[in-house]
Amino acid sequence: MPQKNKTLGEFIIENQGEFKYSSGELSRLINSIRLAAKVVNHEVNKAGLVDILGAAGDINVQGEDQQKLDVFANEAFIKTLTNREIVCGIASEEEDDFITIKGRNEKNDNKYVVLIDPLDGSSNIDVNVSVGTIFSIYRRVTPSGTPVTIQDFLQPGHQQVAAGYIIYGTSTMIVYTTGHGVNGFTLNPAIGTYYLSHPNMKFPETGKIYSVNEGNYVHFPQGVKDYIKWCQAEEGERPYTSRYIGSLVSDIHRNMIKGGIYIYPNTAKDPDGKLRLLYECNPMAYIVEQAGGKASNGFERIMDIQPATLHERVPFFCGSKQMVEKAETFMEAAKS
Ligand code: AHG
Ligand code: MN
Ligand code: MN
Repeated sequence: MPQKNKTLGEFIIENQGEFKYSSGELSRLINSIRLAAKVVNHEVNKAGLVDILGAAGDINVQGEDQQKLDVFANEAFIKTLTNREIVCGIASEEEDDFITIKGRNEKNDNKYVVLIDPLDGSSNIDVNVSVGTIFSIYRRVTPSGTPVTIQDFLQPGHQQVAAGYIIYGTSTMIVYTTGHGVNGFTLNPAIGTYYLSHPNMKFPETGKIYSVNEGNYVHFPQGVKDYIKWCQAEEGERPYTSRYIGSLVSDIHRNMIKGGIYIYPNTAKDPDGKLRLLYECNPMAYIVEQAGGKASNGFERIMDIQPATLHERVPFFCGSKQMVEKAETFMEAAKS
């Protein structure tokens, strides 16, 4: 059981031995993310003060408006990981294609690839509501010494060696897993140090919160409509409470602490849902499962899906185990 009051730096060093292949490289990688997160945090906190609000004018690969802070966060993470020569490749929500990093002496001999949503919930920036960063880490599958290929990125989620999120909220936190439970660290901004504030986080088995954009209700599959009606029915602990921030990181973070389910289903407009498998759903699924929760596409485990493309989308049902299982029974019942 990890102790409280420890800094993230101390925690990383002490737990280095837990990694399957403990060469120190993964520790250095998490250290770099910690550093980039501080830089992004500083910028996010200034958002209301400087003229940095509004769309940057670019459209990202998903055809969405790109906010200036998306660009900033994307560059901050890529620069930090590239300059420190720690990873052999990066895939980002904000980049059409993956980035190849040659590493020391142009040798392509770094072991890990990172997939990242640099700024999640970006439509919330202009209104001073929490946003986040999501990251996923794999060992490359192609031989060391050669440039990375798409195969290194298209791995199913159960192959992840680490995943985490940063939440830029009322306080800034890093929450991550390396497959040995989930730990949360809160930034003390006065000294720029993260402290272990949430050791061994556990998703409550069940809860009373459901988080879904009900504005899309008419477009939802029948199973989701039925589940929502069940959540709203008066019986026992129900009706449940509806909470939806519109920032995946914040919605999942709250539900992990209080108990709840997050759903972003497929809709008539978006037949595969909206969220991205590789850098939103897989890392969240890994964290949530490590905390005792569950993540599925309504029928099967998110982390067992074999990805076909870098930016593919997937319906997402994620949260307290019993709640996700209940939603799945409604999906199954409405299937035919
Ligand atoms: P991003 O800002 O990285 O594009 O992600 C936004 C995502 C996710 O954070 C959130 O849960 C969801 O989009 C909200 O979508 P709706 O506005 O359609 O509910
Ligand atoms: Mn996102
Ligand atoms: Mn994003």
